[in-house]
Amino acid sequence: MKEIEIKTIIFEYNNINDLSEEDRKLIQKAKNAAKRAYAPYSKFNVGACILLENGEFIEGNNQENAAYPSGLCAERVALFYANSLYPDVAVKTLAVAVFTKNQYIENPIPPCGSCRQVLLETEKRFNKPIKLILTGEKAIQIIREVKDLLPLSFDQKMLQ
Ligand code: THU
Repeated sequence: MKEIEIKTIIFEYNNINDLSEEDRKLIQKAKNAAKRAYAPYSKFNVGACILLENGEFIEGNNQENAAYPSGLCAERVALFYANSLYPDVAVKTLAVAVFTKNQYIENPIPPCGSCRQVLLETEKRFNKPIKLILTGEKAIQIIREVKDLLPLSFDQKMLQ
């Protein structure tokens, strides 16, 4: 028997001014996108903003439906939209923000399992790390690549 330890490093900031201008711009765009979410059922408005390697910013937000499973998370709306517009351009960074109960949340939320799986495929497809910025008013967490959030992942290699 051997024990395998998996380590995840998260960089947490308590002051947004410690972030680069680019990251602050992504956060502001994710916050703006959250305000435009269609989330009448959960009232949990999530916004995402992607920065592509070509410098384009792509925003998305969660889109819900009365038939609940038909809705989609903000991260995947933004990612699929980005990939549909620029199928050959890698994703550099993804920022996420949440607006609920009349305010932006204090502590950041990490992406759900399905979003991690989809993000990971994009990361592997372009062989470039996707930086994640998870935004809260009290703390901002930065994860260097999606792989860190989804170790032991299932991917296309296993289908061969
Ligand atoms: N949601 C996201 O958009 N992103 C996440 O990472 C977690 C959850 C959405 C899905 C649903 O519309 C609402 O938040 C409540 O789960």
